[in-house]
This record gives sequence, C-alpha cells and structure tokens, in this order.
Amino acid sequence: MKHRIGSRRAVLLCAGLLLTLPGARPASADDAVLELRVHPSRPAPTLDRNVFGQFAEHLGTGIYGGVWVGKDSPIPNVRGIRSDVVNALRALHVPNVRWPGGCFGDEYHWRDGIGPAAHRRVTVNANWGGALDPNSFGTDEFMDFIDQIGSNAYVSVNVGSGTPAEAAAWMAYMTADPATSAGQERAANGHRAPYRVQFVGLGNESWGCGGAMTPDYYVSQMKLYARFVRNYNAAQTGSDAMRRVAVGADGAKTEYVEAVMKAWQEKVWSWDIEALSLHSYTSAGWPPAHPSEKFGEDEYALLLKDTLAMDGLIARHSAIMDRYDPQKKVALAVDEWGAWYAPLAGTNPGFLVQQNSLRDALLAALNLDIFARHADRVRMTNIAQMINVLQAMIMTDHEKMVLTPTYYIYRMYVPFQDARLVPVEFEAGRYSHGSITLPRVDAIAARDSHGTLWLALVNLDPDHPAHVHAIIDGAPPHSAQGQVLTAAAVDSVNTFTAPETVAPRALGATAGTHGLILDLPPKSVSVLQVQ
Ligand code: AHR
Repeated sequence: MKHRIGSRRAVLLCAGLLLTLPGARPASADDAVLELRVHPSRPAPTLDRNVFGQFAEHLGTGIYGGVWVGKDSPIPNVRGIRSDVVNALRALHVPNVRWPGGCFGDEYHWRDGIGPAAHRRVTVNANWGGALDPNSFGTDEFMDFIDQIGSNAYVSVNVGSGTPAEAAAWMAYMTADPATSAGQERAANGHRAPYRVQFVGLGNESWGCGGAMTPDYYVSQMKLYARFVRNYNAAQTGSDAMRRVAVGADGAKTEYVEAVMKAWQEKVWSWDIEALSLHSYTSAGWPPAHPSEKFGEDEYALLLKDTLAMDGLIARHSAIMDRYDPQKKVALAVDEWGAWYAPLAGTNPGFLVQQNSLRDALLAALNLDIFARHADRVRMTNIAQMINVLQAMIMTDHEKMVLTPTYYIYRMYVPFQDARLVPVEFEAGRYSHGSITLPRVDAIAARDSHGTLWLALVNLDPDHPAHVHAIIDGAPPHSAQGQVLTAAAVDSVNTFTAPETVAPRALGATAGTHGLILDLPPKSVSVLQVQ
C-alpha cells in the first residue's frame, strides 16, 4: 500500500490500519516535529519469528562458495561449511532456511545429494546459468548447516518433475525412526537421530517454473503431497508439528489463492495445509533492469515506492483468505521477497548477482514493518536470498566475506522476533521526489519476552532528518538507546575493501516533558530500546 499523504491531513498508522485524522496538524515541513503515540496496553498480535526467515537456493554461488567450500578447503570450515558465514548468521537468529529452491527445487532429486561424496551424481542446474552441481551439498549437509547456524529446516519438495513417492521417501529419510530402512540409510550416512523439518513447501511457483500448472491441476497435486509427504519425527508434535506450505500467489494474481483456499475450505480429513505462499519481488518492472549500484534519488524513490506496494498485495490476498478462513488458521507465507535488480556487469546473468546498498536496508525495514502490520496472517517470510544472490545478507568472494546493509537490518530487528507488537499511531509526514510522494517516516513497536519496549523507525527522506516526538501511553520514558543505520549516500555499499561503509552506530534519545525526542538522520533505520 502506498502511504499517500494528503497535504492538509496527517496520516496515522495503527498496527496495520491506515487512519487519517481530519484536522490533525500538517506534517509537510521538512523540520516539522512528527508525533508518534505508542499504546502498550492495547492488544496486538505477536510477530512470529519465522517472519525473519531466509532462502538459500542452489543458484550461482549462493550455496557453492557462499555456504559450502568443502572439507579440504583452505577457507576455515566445519565439515565443509564455511565458519565465517556461520558465525555471521548466528547473530541473526535465523528462524528457518528455505532450501533447495526456488525453481531449482522442482528439478531436484534428493538421492543425487546423499551418501559418499565420491558417489554423488554431477547434475546441470538448468534454471540458473547451466552450472554444474556436484551435489556435494545435499540433505545431510543442509541439516548440518542449519544446525551450525541454530536454525530450522524449510524443505521445498519437488512437485514439478518429481512424484509424491519421491518426496515421501525424502521426508522418511529425514525424519523416520532409525529402526526403519529409511532411518537406517540416514544413520549409515552419519545421522542416526531423525532430523526436524519444521516446514515443507509443496512445490514452488507451480504457476510458472514449477510446471505452469493450472490452479485446479495444482490443487489436485497439492492434495497428494499434503497427504503422503509425512513427517515421522515423533518429537515433532503439537505446535512443533511440521507445517505444509502450498503454492499461492504470483504477485498480484489471485487465481491460486482462490483455488487453494477454496479446496482448503472443502477439505476432507485426509489432508491439510498450514500456510499459503506469496512471491513478490521489488523490481519496478519486469525483467529486472534497475541498477543495484551507482544510482541517484530517482532510482531510490522509485524502488521504495515499488516496495511499499507489498502492503496492498498482502491486504488483497488476506481478504481472499479471510473469506475461506476467517479464523486465520492458514498463514500467509511470503516465502520469496526482496529487491531484484539488473545483474552486475561482468557476472553470469543466471547467477542473479547484485549489489546491496543503503537503499536495500530501508527496503528491508519497510517490508518487515509491513509484515508486522499484517502479523495476524503473515506468520512466515523468506527474503531472497541468503548469500551472494539477489538481496543477500552476505557476499563472499573465495576467502573474503562482507556483511551487507540488509544483514544489519536483520541483526537490528532481532528483538522483534516473537515479540508482542504494540500498536502505534504516528504522523508519517511526506517525502516527495518528482512525481513520487511517500511517507517520510515509518514505525513499529513491540515488547519482547522480558517486557522491554522496542521501537523501529525508518526515515525515508534522503536529505532531511526527521524529528519524532514519541509519547508512550501510561509510562513516560526517560531515555532510549539503540542503533541507527545510515551512510553518506542512498547508494552507499559495503565492499571487501571498505566493509564498514554502511554499518550501525549507537543512537540515543532523551526524554522531554512528555516523551522521547528522536532525531532520525536522513535515509536511516533506527532500532531503540525504551527505558
Ligand atoms: O529467487 C530466484 C527465483 O525467483 C526462484 O528460484 C523462483 O522461485 C523465483 O522466480
């Protein structure tokens, strides 16, 4: 949803609601003080930590080079998985990792990636640049990786070119008791105990690369996979039971949403799903042609405008889901999202390599805020992708590694994982560039499990600071401390030679007579703990 700001009205946001208050004071002046009201005693949902999930596909150097370097590599590693990347990811408390695709997932045959390394088949990654996949990184290596980073498995099974039997056998390999033949095979490959699989994706983009299936055809396939791909891990019960994610919307298209939700409403005892996916990238046009580096304010404003459309998209799909599922049992899982730009010059276009700038940090924060405002329905998302691909957290080049601005947003937002959201109302103000007008400020608030109140604030205006006066109902604050992420320019990036160009620094705020005075630098994201 675009937060278009009328010139005579202040726009207030209240935990997902867009309210305009007639008569509220204008907030158009660059130096106006914007008011933020925080309502800790009002009810609001919890922000599921799975909203901070990630996506790691066999694509370019996302896995090979980015995660897997092999046991004999001079790059420090544990069982072939690079240690610098693991250490960086641990700080993000990544709740789940979606793997192995993406489009790759619908051509992945899990048996190619188990057993002794020397016996693994070398296959062609037909979706992504025709690269050879040695299958050295398979199921057991993925499970080792998520164990090393302290995360959970979201495994996407092959619906496009596989069979229910193949997917069922894979799930048995991962989760069955060691007394079964499937469990014995896993034990022979080094892991006796069943793995935990928290999420299973029933195909990927079945409306496109996953087989160009009509909605009805997909629904009949989905029912088979939802029925037969069983998780046998006896420890995964109750709220820990594996959740099945069906293929849903391609951006704004609603056919799959209608078809899958209608089927779900009419379902019989033998199958179920717990989530429906939505894939939506920020590219301001297709195919992606906008630059990820060396751009100016035109590109900055355009891409932020485009990304704010996520709000309307979620509202639209949620409204359809509400018709079939008013109790919101089925979650909306935005399991592919992020910025998708033109490939960097000199790279393989099939490897989806792009730079990651300060703009991407704001873009990530704005989307996380949107997901928070839809937390009752959006209970999982996966940014695309984790390493070296699209809007990555981390970039590597052989032994070198650099953390991107997007990485820092995910680190700053850790306190929001599983935190109880706190409704906020605020004057968003207005940032205009050419024909584009956007809200100047965005904000969310939440209380963590220790009772600490957190604020996250974005100032979209690249030229002017935003002065925000935060009033906390019922508990006048005396100070706030946290971090702010900003840089010299909207296209500032971190490189291997200048890795700290966009890095968080400390930010504090003191209390005035009635509340906190927050001075948000231009083009910045701030996360503060309120005392
Ligand atoms: O993330 C890159 C690709 O984008 C995925 O493989 C596919 O699902 C989507 O179209």
